[in-house]
Amino acid sequence: MDYSLLLLIFTSAVFEKTWCLNTTESTTSTPNYSISATFSSLYTTVTVPSLVCENKGILQDGICICPDDWTGTTCNIQNFCPEQKPSHTSKFTFPKTVLGQFASSVERCPPETTNAGMHQASALCNIATHSFDSPNILNCSLTLDAINAWVSGATPEQKQNLASSTQILTSIPERLTPHNITNAAKITNILLSDQQTTQTTDIAISAVATISQLLNASHEMYSSVDHTAISELTQTLQKLSLREKPNPLLVQPKMAVQSLKGQTPIRQVQLTSFKGLNDNFLPDRIKLHITEAEVSKHIVDLQMNVTFSEDFDKDIGFVLYDNDQFFQSKSFKPSLDTKRRVISANLQENSGIDQVQFAVTPSADSTMSLNDFACVFWSYDKQDWITDGCTKNKSPSGHVVCSCKKLKNANFAILMAFDINYQYSEALHWISITGCALSVVGLSVTALYQIITRKSRGGTPTLLVVNICLSMTVFYLLFIFGINNPVQHVNGTKMSGENIVPESDHHKYSDQGPCTAFTALLQFFLLLTFTWNTLYGINVFLLFKNSVSGTPPWFPQVAMAVGWGLPAVIVGISLGSTYRVEEPLGYRQEEFCWLASLDHKQKFNIKKPMFWGFVLPLLLMLISNTAILLHFSYKICRTNPNLNKSRKTSLKKKMMSSFSLAVMLGLSWVTGYILLITQEKNLKFILGLVFCLLNTTQGVQIFILFALRPFLNSNPAILTLCVRQK
Ligand SMILES: *[C@@H]1O[C@H](CO)[C@@H](O)[C@H](O)[C@H]1NC(C)=O
Ligand SMILES: *[C@@H]1O[C@H](CO)[C@@H](O)[C@H](O)[C@H]1NC(C)=O
Ligand SMILES: *[C@@H]1O[C@H](CO)[C@@H](O)[C@H](O)[C@H]1NC(C)=O
Ligand SMILES: *[C@@H]1O[C@H](CO)[C@@H](O)[C@H](O)[C@H]1NC(C)=O
Ligand SMILES: *[C@@H]1O[C@H](CO)[C@@H](O)[C@H](O)[C@H]1NC(C)=O
Ligand SMILES: *[C@@H]1O[C@H](CO)[C@@H](O)[C@H](O)[C@H]1NC(C)=O
Repeated sequence: MDYSLLLLIFTSAVFEKTWCLNTTESTTSTPNYSISATFSSLYTTVTVPSLVCENKGILQDGICICPDDWTGTTCNIQNFCPEQKPSHTSKFTFPKTVLGQFASSVERCPPETTNAGMHQASALCNIATHSFDSPNILNCSLTLDAINAWVSGATPEQKQNLASSTQILTSIPERLTPHNITNAAKITNILLSDQQTTQTTDIAISAVATISQLLNASHEMYSSVDHTAISELTQTLQKLSLREKPNPLLVQPKMAVQSLKGQTPIRQVQLTSFKGLNDNFLPDRIKLHITEAEVSKHIVDLQMNVTFSEDFDKDIGFVLYDNDQFFQSKSFKPSLDTKRRVISANLQENSGIDQVQFAVTPSADSTMSLNDFACVFWSYDKQDWITDGCTKNKSPSGHVVCSCKKLKNANFAILMAFDINYQYSEALHWISITGCALSVVGLSVTALYQIITRKSRGGTPTLLVVNICLSMTVFYLLFIFGINNPVQHVNGTKMSGENIVPESDHHKYSDQGPCTAFTALLQFFLLLTFTWNTLYGINVFLLFKNSVSGTPPWFPQVAMAVGWGLPAVIVGISLGSTYRVEEPLGYRQEEFCWLASLDHKQKFNIKKPMFWGFVLPLLLMLISNTAILLHFSYKICRTNPNLNKSRKTSLKKKMMSSFSLAVMLGLSWVTGYILLITQEKNLKFILGLVFCLLNTTQGVQIFILFALRPFLNSNPAILTLCVRQK
């Protein structure tokens, strides 16, 4: 289930911090730390058997996973700038912010300006001083269009200002439109392409922060973004990663650039990003190693090894993207909320590269499990992911690892397809089965009795009652024998050996087994029951209206047509519009054989057939039943000279039975549905009892009303509305 790469690491935490922040210096000296580091960590592991994580850190595999604003082995080292109140140096308020990131001022642009409501200023939380740098202030009437038109010809000072203005203007992800994203991509591209301006650290940091904010914009926005602008930007970022100036490590929450100045010849370089409580990149979670036996005391989130066939002494650069929004594929269309990290590896000179190996922790929660994956890189020609030269491995420990041979500068990713871990419904409890079985018995006896005694009653009532009994009986039998899905996709990864780009991040199974047929039959027979029940109500209504002539002669034919036709039409439409053999879950659920009701976020969705193919018709029928009842009781309570008293009582009883049957039916199947989806043991038992009770009552109720009562020929104590009023 847990596919995270678990690398247990023995280097001391203190050492790593130094190593990380001092990458450039460290590469030149021969490292002699391994042995001492191993010793120190062995020592600490022995004396401290289990850590106590502070500041909401979470212990996982003996390691504290810290929130962004704390760091250290037990999350006890402050990693933020505290809130800054206005003072004589700055009139802005900045909230508590993680080191190395931009804070947006609490103060906003006034309502009459173009950028009304936008943050008025931003300030960088300085890693060295643990406090905010002097704020960048936004001209509240400046737009991204204006900056884009202006930026190419601007002086370096102006560029600095434009870079920070762009960062502020893109700081609210919800406000970004495709047009804004395109503009911001063009601006940052111009800022970062310029060799001279990027020597200025501040411009590069602001630009990278802007890009990080763009990556946090919603997924929908990227479908209509200008792909050329984005393509140019990612290519510029590749070049930027090869410039170790102004800073070898630029890290913002959703993207990072890491450079390694080539000096000593190396055979391998390893880039690792460690896991934090949030998915954000942080400077002290990204490490570059140039020796083999690198181990570290963190949980790896993403790792890339670049191996050279001969000694390599030129520059190497990496770009990390939190997600693949900048790489909109035509062949891979994700439909679940998973994300894919993208790692760009770039060399100043291509010669000598042997292979690139990378691994990324799947970004999936426990509701999903990995089905298959593909190792890919981005083709700027095809504007799509391709797999040429890449192979995939699954290590014995279950991690997914990719390796690509002799590839030049490229953006790599792992495209994963997941299975949803369905919670299949358990076999029906004997209580439920008992309830249903009693109902089946009651209904069958009633139907038989009605047929035998039909002469004394006339055709229409018999037709109605027999149809109700028949449809309910069939429904109960289908329910007992067909509600559980016989074909269960229990997670066992069926990884294919071939490296093929999947169609989507959601692995779909084509339909197998009888589940869809059972669903359609269940839907049909339950709708049938309700339709006939409503027809029964309408019949009583007509009897009352035409109290002299009785039910109109056309009623039985119309009732047959509507009673059987309407459910068939609804089932036909539901199946026709939502069912595909390769994707049966548009129509039914996987957990048990019943209509689909939830969208992929597990929320009830009115576009699903459960709502419009079942709940909606049901509600309409219940409403019409209730309306008839109300109308009827209103009329009947007023003295109607055409009706004698006993006829009135008989009609009243029939009406009440139709109504109470409808309510019972509704209640019982709502309970049945909850019973199937609930996982809670006690609730399941109680609901099972209620379901059984309601069902039994239903069958018995029908039995008493339509079979037993005529025998007894007395008035069973069904409550009446009128008697009380009189
Ligand atoms: C980085 O190295 C320099 C000297 O090489 C040292 O003064 C500094 O403290 C180191 N930085 C950190 C964060 O350890
Ligand atoms: C590493 O080597 C330097 C000299 O090259 C030495 O001064 C230092 O103590 C060594 N460090 C460790 C941890 O062995
Ligand atoms: C803000 O920008 C507008 C138009 O871009 C300009 O006319 C105005 O002078 C600027 N205001 C300040 C205070 O720089
Ligand atoms: C973002 O785009 C919208 C139109 O899509 C535009 O009205 C708005 O001014 C833009 N925002 C900025 C800050 O340029
Ligand atoms: C990304 O956007 C969400 C809201 O859309 C916000 O809550 C979150 O803080 C943002 N993350 C970063 C790193 O800016
Ligand atoms: C990178 O190399 C190290 C050792 O050389 C190895 O432990 C690690 O699994 C490799 N990572 C990947 C992603 O192949």
